[in-house]
Amino acid sequence: MSSSNLSSIIILFTTFGLLQTCFGADPLFHFCSNSGNFTAHSPYELNLKSVISLLNYKTPPTGFGKASVGTGQSQTAYGLSLCRGDVSASDCKTCVSEASSEIRKLCPYNKGAIIWYDNCLYKYLDSDFFGQIDETNRFYMWNLQNVSDPTTFNYRTKEFLSRLAKAASGNPKMFATGEIKLGISETLYGLTQCTRDLSSIDCKKCLEDAIGELPNCCDGKEGGRVVGGSCNFRYEIYPFVKH
Ligand SMILES: *[C@@H]1O[C@H](CO)[C@@H](O)[C@H](O)[C@H]1NC(C)=O
Ligand SMILES: *[C@@H]1O[C@H](CO)[C@@H](O)[C@H](O)[C@H]1NC(C)=O
Repeated sequence: MSSSNLSSIIILFTTFGLLQTCFGADPLFHFCSNSGNFTAHSPYELNLKSVISLLNYKTPPTGFGKASVGTGQSQTAYGLSLCRGDVSASDCKTCVSEASSEIRKLCPYNKGAIIWYDNCLYKYLDSDFFGQIDETNRFYMWNLQNVSDPTTFNYRTKEFLSRLAKAASGNPKMFATGEIKLGISETLYGLTQCTRDLSSIDCKKCLEDAIGELPNCCDGKEGGRVVGGSCNFRYEIYPFVKH
């Protein structure tokens, strides 16, 4: 498979990282694939619907689910969903179910699509993408505020995230969070996560590639995220991880 079937545009946009509504969250971003369309009531649509209902109940208990349904090339639907490692099973359930209905509205007849929320990632495609790093679907977010000493800050952030990348790749949940003191009053908070279809080695590789995007994404910024189809990281100077 290739996630190269999905859109390859890298989109940049900005955030203050403060927006969280009480009544469900808006998607952060999505791509509809250009791998082809299906028609209403086709075998592919039926298989996709089965994948979606499997993911809806497989994902919440562990925060990760994958499923494939169908036989034959281009008739089989493959899907996965991943909740952020610190969200509860019930928030995970809400996110996955919202993601699956939203993505069907945004990409109604595309055989593949991917959508991200703060709390979850949801992806499906008509070819087997499991266990492969998605090098195509990626976007950045950053805080508009600049730090006062970018050189030191960038260095410490990169080092910190690399440590969290190693921690996530060695964790069965492929998720890590942490914090470091930057000065007397400043603390840097971070999060790294991979989809659990990846091997530990590929999780680390995926995160290291994402961390390599820091200069393009978040140079001297107080917060940032590089978010992909197989892994993502986030750092902020305020706590954002749920306990
Ligand atoms: C899929 O549908 C879209 C919009 O309906 C159309 O623009 C596009 O050309 C179609 N793609 C293929 C591969 O048929
Ligand atoms: C941050 O720095 C950039 C580049 O120097 C500048 O354009 C921008 O206005 C600064 N942002 C704030 C919020 O001061």
